[in-house]
Amino acid sequence: MDVNVLTEMCLVQLSLSGVHEGEKVIVLSQGDERLDYADAFLAAGRRLGCQMYHMRLPASMPETGAWAVGKTGLAAIPDAVEALKQADMVVDLIFLLFSDEQMAIQASGTRVLTAVEPAPLLARLMPTKQLRERVEVGAELLAKAKTMRITSKHGTDVVYKLGVYPTMSEYGYTDQPGRWDHWPAAFVFTGGADDGVDGTIVLAPGDVLLPFNTYVREPVTYTIEKGFIRDIRGGLDAELIKSYMATFNDPRGFGMSHVGWGLDHRANWHGLTQFPGGMGMELRSFYGNVMFSTGPNNELGGPNNTACHLDIPMRNCSLFLDDEPMVLDGQIAVKEMQHVFG
Ligand SMILES: [Fe+2]
Repeated sequence: MDVNVLTEMCLVQLSLSGVHEGEKVIVLSQGDERLDYADAFLAAGRRLGCQMYHMRLPASMPETGAWAVGKTGLAAIPDAVEALKQADMVVDLIFLLFSDEQMAIQASGTRVLTAVEPAPLLARLMPTKQLRERVEVGAELLAKAKTMRITSKHGTDVVYKLGVYPTMSEYGYTDQPGRWDHWPAAFVFTGGADDGVDGTIVLAPGDVLLPFNTYVREPVTYTIEKGFIRDIRGGLDAELIKSYMATFNDPRGFGMSHVGWGLDHRANWHGLTQFPGGMGMELRSFYGNVMFSTGPNNELGGPNNTACHLDIPMRNCSLFLDDEPMVLDGQIAVKEMQHVFG
C-alpha cells in the first residue's frame, strides 16, 4: 500500500485513539515485519505533535502470529518492557496478546493498539465512532447479564454462567489509559465462570476455525461440562482440532475461554478467502457471528494461561442474555446494535 495512504490511515487511527501533542508513543516491531506500518505510524504521530520512537526487536524472536499465544521476545528484555511502560501508547506490530509483558504495560496505564492485519483490511475496516457506540451498547448489556445461552438449529445448546469475569469490547482503537484494542475489530466478549460452562456446541459447515484459518466442512460436536471440554466428536475437522490441541500437551487447553458476538456489518464472513494469511480479525467481527473460544482466560483475569487457544466464530446461532435475545439465527436482535442494510 502507498505509504501516504497508510500514513493517512494511521493519522485517523491515532486521532481516534486520542493521541495528542506532547504524548509519547512507541511503535514496537520485530525483524523486517511491517516496517511500512512503523514508518506510517511514526509519520502520523509526528504530525500530531507526539514524541515518537520505534523499538525494533530482532527477527530471531518467536515468529509473529505463531499461535502459541502469550510468548514474546520481550520477556527476555525487561529494560524494553520498562521503556514501553513509560509511553502513553504502544503500537504493537508484533502481537503481544496474552503475554505477561502486555499485561504489565497495560497495568502501568499505557494504552496498547495492535495492528498486524494486511493493510487493505485495515483500510476497509477503519474504526469509527458509530461502530464503537454499537459495541459499547453490547458491552453494557453483556456486563449486566447473569447467564448466556447459545443455541443453533444444528444442535448447539450451551449455557455460560457470567458475572465472574469482566466484559471486554473491541472496536479497533483505544483512547482510555491502560486499555488494549486491535485494529480492526468490532465485537464484545466475556468469559464464563471457571466451572460454569455446560452443554453442547455443534460446529456447522462454514463456521470458522482460527488459527487454522479454515472453514468447517462437517459437523463437530463439543461436549462441555463444568467449564471444560470433555469430548470432541465428528469427522476430519474434529480430528484436526483434537490433533492440534494434543500438541500443547496441556489439559488447560480444554478450558472454555472468551465468548461473545460480532457487530461489524462491513466485515465479510468469506474474509478468509481474501486474506488467508491474516489473523482472522474480520471473521471475529462479522455482523451477527457468535464466537466461542477455548483455552486461556488470563486475558480476563482468570487463572488459565495455556498457550493452546482457538477462536471459533459461528454463523446462524442465537445468543440470549438472561433469556433476552441479542442474536437470533445470526441476525442482531437489539435495535441499538443493528445496522440498517440499505
Ligand atoms: Fe481469542
